Amino acid sequence: MTAPGYLVRSAADVPAGDGWLGSRERAVQGGLRLAVRRDAWRLGRWTAKSAVGAWLGIAPEEIEILAATDGAPEPWTGEEQLPVALSLSHRAGLGLAVAGPRAPVLGCDVELVEPRSPAFQREWFAPAERSLLATAAAGQEADLTANLLWTAKEAATKVRRGGLRLDVRRALVELGDGDGRTWSPLTITWPDAAPARGWWRAYDGHVLTIAGDRPIGAPRCLDALVGA
Ligand SMILES: CC(C)(COP(=O)(O)OP(=O)(O)OC[C@H]1O[C@@H](n2cnc3c(N)ncnc32)[C@H](O)[C@@H]1OP(=O)(O)O)[C@@H](O)C(=O)NCCC(=O)NCCS
Repeated sequence: MTAPGYLVRSAADVPAGDGWLGSRERAVQGGLRLAVRRDAWRLGRWTAKSAVGAWLGIAPEEIEILAATDGAPEPWTGEEQLPVALSLSHRAGLGLAVAGPRAPVLGCDVELVEPRSPAFQREWFAPAERSLLATAAAGQEADLTANLLWTAKEAATKVRRGGLRLDVRRALVELGDGDGRTWSPLTITWPDAAPARGWWRAYDGHVLTIAGDRPIGAPRCLDALVGA
């Protein structure tokens, strides 16, 4: 079973200046008017380039991360699309990227662990998911579970490359054994598509989910391979 590689980066890790961006990326960045969106986009680009570079053993500066027509990130070097599955996410100054062989298709999501209102839970979570929330202790544990469910749904939409064009209310998250201190298994089922299978973990006040369109091994941190 393939175990994809992942990297987490913070806003402070993103190099200053634009020397690490390719010409096509600079053109995209030039169209991002809001500083907050530009900073998040740069964080995602740097995290994704670092992950793909570590996975393939090439320098991040040689890679461009370009959006496909559906918005999904794709890694390129020059005119050649790299044979790598890639997904990225950014939230509150933290970037997550996952890379692996071209198959399985991968999706990832990071969220800040913060309260999700009862109205949010009623709107987005299925009865079985709300039952799961009801068993979590109020406070940090409930916040972690709510955001975990959300990351799992978003990661599953990225696996299908549909994003929030898909109705995440129909994506049902089921958790396996594990408390998220290390990668813990989960499955996201759809009524009209194959399930996504993956892993989640708590990370520095955030929660991370990584999923594939078929079973994947627990994600491996690529930090040791950066610059190798
Ligand atoms: C994919 C999506 C659910 C992620 O939203 P989010 O949780 O706010 O943001 P995240 O940081 O977790 O993920 C954003 C990344 O997902 C990736 N992404 C975008 N569309 C994607 C798709 N269809 N499939 C897979 N990945 C996608 C992008 O790399 C994006 O980052 P970037 O724009 O900086 O390159 C959301 O962007 C979406 O629904 N997009 C499709 C619909 C759309 O384009 N709507 C336009 C606004 S109405």
